[in-house]
Amino acid sequence: MGPMALGLLCASVGCASRPRVPSPIAQTASLGVVRYEGLVSDPVEYRLDRASASAGEHIFVRSGVGDPYRTGVALPVFLALIEGFPSLFGGDMRGFRSAFGMLESAVGDRDARAGLPVGLHLTDDPNTGVPFVVSSCALCHAERVRWPGGSALIMGLGNRTLQIHRYDAAFDLVATNERFTVETVRALADAAAARERIPWPIEVRGPIVEATVRALRERAPLRSDLQRRTRDALPGRVAVIESFAEAMTSLLRRPIETSETVGWTRIPDVIGFAQRRTLSWDGSGEGPIDALVVEAGFAFNARPEWFYAHPHQGRSLSEYLRGLQRDLRFPRPIDRTLADRGRAHFNERCAGCHGEYRADGSIVYREQVRPLEELGVDPARALAVTPSFVRASNHWRLAVPDSRVRNTGGYVPPVLRSLWMRAPFGHNGQWPSLAVIATAPEARPQRFVVDPDAPMDLDAVGVRTLPADSARSGNQYDFDGARPGFSTSGHPFLSDLGPAAARAVIEYLVTL
Ligand code: HEC
Ligand code: HEC
Repeated sequence: MGPMALGLLCASVGCASRPRVPSPIAQTASLGVVRYEGLVSDPVEYRLDRASASAGEHIFVRSGVGDPYRTGVALPVFLALIEGFPSLFGGDMRGFRSAFGMLESAVGDRDARAGLPVGLHLTDDPNTGVPFVVSSCALCHAERVRWPGGSALIMGLGNRTLQIHRYDAAFDLVATNERFTVETVRALADAAAARERIPWPIEVRGPIVEATVRALRERAPLRSDLQRRTRDALPGRVAVIESFAEAMTSLLRRPIETSETVGWTRIPDVIGFAQRRTLSWDGSGEGPIDALVVEAGFAFNARPEWFYAHPHQGRSLSEYLRGLQRDLRFPRPIDRTLADRGRAHFNERCAGCHGEYRADGSIVYREQVRPLEELGVDPARALAVTPSFVRASNHWRLAVPDSRVRNTGGYVPPVLRSLWMRAPFGHNGQWPSLAVIATAPEARPQRFVVDPDAPMDLDAVGVRTLPADSARSGNQYDFDGARPGFSTSGHPFLSDLGPAAARAVIEYLVTL
């Protein structure tokens, strides 16, 4: 995640700006556990003595970057929220997953047996023995691809249905519910732990419940502005800059001016990682890649100290992402002659921005930002990086040498791999298919219903859409190009080629 998005998913024991230490845990903790500014839980799975791609895979797919007291919730309390506040958290695990558009796990491990979706993970707190629910990169960066005749879970692909802001808001809403008291949560948590046989030692129950209730109550009022601005978020989109601005506001204790229109971003596919120098749609966050890649961990509210104590995570994630392979090909025969013609057009008209994709699999790509005026696409995301945001981020980022945030005034042409499975396209998911990108900007559909659960539309090469005002079910949602920040305009490059050449280019693009 490019510029850090501190604050998202901050739903934990020590989540409020000044974590207070629950005393019985503090006593356990002083028995040799790493301690920094506050109390730290350091489960074994986060202790790496060197960097490796396999450690990176574990972080990305399962464990996330850690710091469970800050980024996680004790499992009994998590179940208490789900079961005790069903209108917010879904009532049971199935309801929980579907309330937030999270993916059902296909692997039969402990996380899956607990009913957790892809991207949520149980880590055992060595201080108390209690499993904590933490999140990994795969909560956002994994998706199940369906096509007529098959489906596959693909790591790294941007989730199309996840309602991350609704999830985040549920923790604020619960905190203002009159039934949200230490007594109620404690009773629900005790019952869930007994039923599910979850380790829940008597002496830590009170402190954990109290700390969680207090932390959520403290953070809720600080977040009303962000909640208001992100209430109508579309699935698979994140208000990255606004979320981070909100979190920096409470850390730096100074207001940050955000722009009027939310700079929504679609969760991207990370498959272009090896070619990238920055990790956001607008290239706004610059710095050493191993540092940028753990910044995503700040999305979970982990403390900087945690990263100093776990220095191999960034390099591990980079190694894993650099080597990420996909063997899932476009599930239809390719017309080679047409695709070859498409490649010629592509290399002439598109490669200058998007790079050249050689037959031997190598990619010649130099990352660059192209200006808004040239692209004509919606500016909201680029403009979200306000001068005030830049100042605050750079103050914050003094901790990371050679790194800075700037307003780039444009967007980075994405690396075009795995395109057939990664719609909706564009920084805000504003284009449902390649067919829409190949349509002249003024003729593109403006209002439609997106059906992200349907098999991919292999003709249009994208997500399936229904006419505007169709009855909606499941994860289907309305898209309206007239909404500020959601313009479908610009990027006329493919449609400018004319229909025949565009058709050939698309036949080529699905081979990448
Ligand atoms: C809450 C959802 C979310 C989580 C969790 C998350 N990311 Fe992201 N990630 C995003 C979004 C949104 C962007 C685009 C940011 C932007 O442009 O403003 C992004 C961008 C990226 C990119 C750049 C992709 C590209 O090539 O354009 C990489 C790499 C990445 N994230 C890695 C990670 C890693 C590693 C983790 C876990 C440590 C992680 N992310 C966790 C949402 C998330
Ligand atoms: C001037 C540079 C430039 C040229 C030329 C260009 N593009 Fe793009 N392209 C971009 C940028 C920048 C974006 C991201 C726009 C956004 O996110 O709103 C983009 C986005 C895309 C996307 C969506 C990718 C995604 O990850 O969602 C596709 C597909 C695409 N371009 C294909 C093409 C094709 C095919 C051509 C040639 C016919 C082409 N582009 C020419 C700059 C360019």
